[in-house]
Amino acid sequence: MLPFHRVAAEDFAAVNQRILDQLHSDVPLVENIGHYLVEAGGKRLRPLLVLLCARACNYGGERHIDLATIIEFIHTATLLHDDVVDTSDMRRGRLTANAKWGNAPSVLVGDFLYSRAFQMMIALQDMRIMALLSDTTNTIAEGEVQQLVNAGDPEVSEENYFGVIYKKTGALFEAACETAAVLADCSTEEQNALKLYGRHLGLAFQLVDDALDYRGNPEELGKNVGDDLAEGKPTLPLIYTMANGNSSQATLVREAIEQRSAAKLVEIVEAIEACGALDYTMERARTAVEDAKAQLDFLPESDQKTALQQLASFAVERNV
Ligand code: IPE
Ligand code: IPE
Ligand code: MG
Ligand code: MG
Repeated sequence: MLPFHRVAAEDFAAVNQRILDQLHSDVPLVENIGHYLVEAGGKRLRPLLVLLCARACNYGGERHIDLATIIEFIHTATLLHDDVVDTSDMRRGRLTANAKWGNAPSVLVGDFLYSRAFQMMIALQDMRIMALLSDTTNTIAEGEVQQLVNAGDPEVSEENYFGVIYKKTGALFEAACETAAVLADCSTEEQNALKLYGRHLGLAFQLVDDALDYRGNPEELGKNVGDDLAEGKPTLPLIYTMANGNSSQATLVREAIEQRSAAKLVEIVEAIEACGALDYTMERARTAVEDAKAQLDFLPESDQKTALQQLASFAVERNV
């Protein structure tokens, strides 16, 4: 448990229980895959954001437990699909579901989790939350498709990249915070501030994820590094190297993207370190975290507010 989880420990335990309860299915394979992934843990940052934002806005009810569960189910569904698309074989320190059971069960159980999330949303009986979350899932899907189109293309611009990371990751962080603010009946300005907090935090989180794909430790991360290169994903460290590295560094990266090959991972890590691409990526992440924290100014001082600030710092300091 990370320090900022403690503030919400009781709510967090309730979410963990709700996640297990809501995995039920008559079909054993659904439950097996669901439990396999959920019991491996994960950082549970998105449900924590729901809990902290709701309580920071003085929410006094219990519906934030369901909302947090819904958000984690949507996240888990995207991971099941993402690991198929990215042909990844390690997640949360274990074999991915696709590596263990195959692509078809992973995609179908991902669909099960998405639709379970929507069933739970109906039970919340809040049209505003339903509207936000249906837009969010659509945006995530669009981001993943755009990323697929970008794979193998060294011409992808920084702007295009930022569009993808907003859609595939920023949007769900944003929705976690905004829907919690809606649930807590915050003013429109406050909802907007928390929405932007989530957006900037999500961008920072994905920027760091993309840096860690080159310099992270698989043992700590619980997933492999170098997967992005093997997929020919033009992420910021590579885009920066092609624009600012010397010509041999730029050519090395360009060819690896075109060939969708991690065969030269070691040389490429050297090149992106040497030309400052990882520093640049981390600097962009730090700026995004500062932008996120600035949105919290409106909140009165509370343990939850402090935890939201700490969570934002963690997004850039993390190596897990
Ligand atoms: C992984 O998200 C997908 C990205 C957006 C990079 P997390 O790193 O939050 O995954 P878990 O839930 O902790 O495993
Ligand atoms: C994950 O992006 C985004 C979604 C799950 C929608 P990545 O592909 O970078 O995530 P990891 O590295 O597999 O966790
Ligand atoms: Mg992936
Ligand atoms: Mg990644």
